[in-house]
Amino acid sequence: MTFDLRNAINAISDVVQNRPPPLREFDQIYMKVADMVIQAEYVARVFNGKDIVFVGDGDGIALSAAHLKAQDVIEYGPNSITLLDFDERIVQSVERFGEKLSDKVRISAHLYNVADPLPEIHFGAYDGFHINPPWGASNGGESVTAFYERGSQATKAQSLGIVVIADDPELPWTQQVLRDTQTRAIQLGYVVAEMQPQLHLYHLDDNPDLRSCSCLFRRVDPACMEKTSEPLEQSRLRNFYGRGSPLRVKYVRQTVTLNTDRESDRLYSLEPIEVTNG
Ligand SMILES: C[S@@+](CC[C@H](N)C(=O)[O-])C[C@H]1O[C@@H](n2cnc3c(N)ncnc32)[C@H](O)[C@@H]1O
Repeated sequence: MTFDLRNAINAISDVVQNRPPPLREFDQIYMKVADMVIQAEYVARVFNGKDIVFVGDGDGIALSAAHLKAQDVIEYGPNSITLLDFDERIVQSVERFGEKLSDKVRISAHLYNVADPLPEIHFGAYDGFHINPPWGASNGGESVTAFYERGSQATKAQSLGIVVIADDPELPWTQQVLRDTQTRAIQLGYVVAEMQPQLHLYHLDDNPDLRSCSCLFRRVDPACMEKTSEPLEQSRLRNFYGRGSPLRVKYVRQTVTLNTDRESDRLYSLEPIEVTNG
C-alpha cells in the first residue's frame, strides 16, 4: 500500500470540513484525522469494487474512502456506498458531498434508526457493512450488537463487516464488549478475519487516550442469517448512549432557517420515538 500522504490528508480535510458539529449526547465523537486516513484507505481496500452500507457514520469514513478514490490518491475503492443514519444533518451533508463524487462512486444516504426494522429495500442488498456504534460501556455491548445485527441483515450471504469499537486492555469493559460482539457475530455465522487492535484516537476530552480497534468479520455460515428484521426490544434501548441515556430519539432533524443572511441559532431539533401504550 503506497499513496501520497499530503494528497490523502488534504482529501480527508475536505470531508472533515463538511461534517456537522458532533452531538456528544448521542456518542458522536469524531475520529482524529490521521486515523481517518488509515481507516478510509483500509475500507477502500477491503471493499474494492463492492456495494457497501454504513450503519451510522458521523466520522465521515464513507466519504473519505470515496474521496480518496475520486481524487486519485488511491486506485481502488467501493463501487457504491449507502449510509443509514438517524441524524438528518449527517444524511444531508453526505448527500451533498456525495453528489460531487458521483462519477467515481455512487453515494446515497437515508434517515434510519436502528431501533426500527431495516426497510425491505436494504435487506440483503449489500456486499459489506461498516459500523462505529455507541461503544456500549453501560449497556453490556447491546448498542454494538444492535448496529451489528442491522449491518448483517443489510448484507448478502457472501459478505464482510468492519466493526470499529473501543479497545483498551486496561479497561475491562472494552474487552467484555469485544468478546460479546464476537460471540454474537459467531451466532450470526461470522468469523473474525482480521483484527487491528488499538488503532484509532478520538476528539474525546474526558478520555483522549481511549482507542478503538478495527475488526473485520467474514460470514462463513449463511444458514445463520436472520430471515426478518424486527424492532429492537425496549430492554435493549436502556443506557444506549451511556448510563441514564436511553435510545429515545427517533431522528435528529436539521433546522431549516428562512433567514438566508444568518445561521439559525438552533441547528437541530429532536424528534422522539412514539411510545405506544398497552
Ligand atoms: C454513535 S456514533 C459513534 C462514534 C463515531 N466516531 C461517530 O461520531 O460517528 C456513530 C453514528 O451513529 C449514528 N447513530 C447514533 N444513534 C443512532 C441510531 N439510533 N440509529 C441510527 N444511527 C445512529 C450517529 O449519528 C453517528 O453518525
